[in-house]
Amino acid sequence: MRSCLILGIVLACVAHAQEPPGAELFRKRCGGCHAMDRDKAGPNLKGVYGRRAASGESFPYSDALRKSGITWNAATLESWLADPEKLVPGNDMPFHVESSAERALIIAYLKQSSADQRTVRGPEAPSQSGVARAPAAPRSQSIVTVTSSVNAVR
Ligand code: HEC
Repeated sequence: MRSCLILGIVLACVAHAQEPPGAELFRKRCGGCHAMDRDKAGPNLKGVYGRRAASGESFPYSDALRKSGITWNAATLESWLADPEKLVPGNDMPFHVESSAERALIIAYLKQSSADQRTVRGPEAPSQSGVARAPAAPRSQSIVTVTSSVNAVR
């Protein structure tokens, strides 16, 4: 019983440690309006890095953003998060991020998660099993490591 408790705590720590550093900031700063899997007050940001602005199919974007001709990359996201109104006057996002360090972390997270989504969808992803092998591997490996160290404690 006790070892289950220890294992649970350790696994929670491992899962937390594996989360990219910008993920928590994204949830805190952006999560009120954005998610990766659905539109909220703002459009879903799944695969947004590398995509043209306002190209999601389901969200009623402002005309200003639709006509901006922007493609989201490190430079355009930096200007957008620093001052959306300056980059795209008349857009609908009433929010900016004051700290450049936070902007960098959030942009790195958007880039990383967009790349992950492309990998999973890519031709190398195992199609029959329906399980994405690449992202799953490191996690199960560390669970094995953790399990054996818990056994060692016992
Ligand atoms: C108060 C709500 C709100 C918050 C908080 C917010 N956004 Fe937005 N965001 C919006 C809205 C609304 C739009 C659509 C803007 C438009 O159509 O002009 C948008 C659009 C965007 C877009 C363009 C998406 C596309 O498909 O072109 C990006 C990128 C973006 N937000 C990133 C962020 C990030 C990163 C954060 C956190 C740092 C954030 N937003 C916080 C409301 C918000």
